[in-house]
Amino acid sequence: MLSIKHTLFLVSGSSSFIIFYMGIVNYITSPDKSTGIILLIFSVLVAIGTLLATVYISKSITKPIEKLAYNMAEFSKINKISKKNMIKTNVKKIFELNENFKSMGDKVERTIEVQMEYVKKLKEIDKRKVEFSSMVSHELKTPLVPILGYVQMLQKEDLFGKLNEKQREAVDEIYLSTIKLQRLVGDILTTQKLDLGKLVFEKDNLTVLELLQDIIKEFSPIASERKIKLSTNFNGDVHIFSDKDRINQVFSNLIKNAMDFVSPNTGIIEIGVNDKDTEKLEFFVRDNGTGISSDHQKDIFKKFYQIDTSSSRKRSGSGLGLAICKGIIEGLNGKMWVKSEKDVQTTFYFEIPKKSTIVSIKNISK
Ligand SMILES: Nc1ncnc2c1ncn2[C@@H]1O[C@H](COP(=O)(O)OP(=O)(O)O)[C@@H](O)[C@H]1O
Ligand SMILES: [Mg+2]
Repeated sequence: MLSIKHTLFLVSGSSSFIIFYMGIVNYITSPDKSTGIILLIFSVLVAIGTLLATVYISKSITKPIEKLAYNMAEFSKINKISKKNMIKTNVKKIFELNENFKSMGDKVERTIEVQMEYVKKLKEIDKRKVEFSSMVSHELKTPLVPILGYVQMLQKEDLFGKLNEKQREAVDEIYLSTIKLQRLVGDILTTQKLDLGKLVFEKDNLTVLELLQDIIKEFSPIASERKIKLSTNFNGDVHIFSDKDRINQVFSNLIKNAMDFVSPNTGIIEIGVNDKDTEKLEFFVRDNGTGISSDHQKDIFKKFYQIDTSSSRKRSGSGLGLAICKGIIEGLNGKMWVKSEKDVQTTFYFEIPKKSTIVSIKNISK
């Protein structure tokens, strides 16, 4: 693309040449030599005048405009106004344009500085907040160990003597509440570890069939107690290199959720695998429960998000389960998503690499 300066010189150069050429043609063809000379001198003067005017226009208009355009391009790159290329012009509008650009640039520079300062402060506050709640969670976890220990000792008659029925009921209630509290503190700690990128993954060679069968075995007693059908579609021979405990934790969370949302007697939960990729393996947990409406589907992976938050709801929970599942799967370099049809079925999917890849722990606080 031609610059303004070159275009200007090209146009004025060709016009001067044409004027000069016409002067010469007039001089040669004119019958009256003195008129020819006058026309030739006139055309030479006009051509020189045109060239001089072009030089003046170039200096006072095009050069400042080009400098301004260059300064603007630099500014958009480095967000700072370069003081090197000062513009000198006595054309009022260009002078004003340059002054406006400088004041706008100063304002943008200051706004960016203020924003950077805010971002720095917010990051610091966020870090301190996570460190503080991590410390609190640890302090909560430690006393729970002796509480649980003593409650379990009280439940055993041969240690502290026989309890009457009311005492027994009270101790059982303390036991259940302590377990819930312990789980909640555990979930908060796991969430924080994921936030800080400190959750450790231990990978090993895993046989997928064994992994699924162990999960079914673990949940079969509670499923049959509630008359819920729990099964797997998988019977293949697939091996992956991943973290067994963390995958179990994800399945466990998804199955516990599913059990809460299917009806006893008619509830069906299916866990399984879709092996359709050489690199990744897709797992799923499907239930025929209440389903999740599409407005809620995008939010359920957020920390503390629960669809039913009414005080009359039957199930307990902190709303951290799915955020943790997603954080773990992303930490294993995979991804997690849900598909659901209200009152028909819900399927949670997650896919993870079959082979070892570098573990990158992502922040789940977004
Ligand atoms: N299988 C499911 N069917 C219907 N709703 C579900 C299912 N799984 C999760 N949800 C919804 O997603 C919310 C978040 O789940 P989760 O993060 O595990 O928290 P919590 O189980 O502690 O409530 C649940 O409160 C529930 O409303
Ligand atoms: Mg849950």
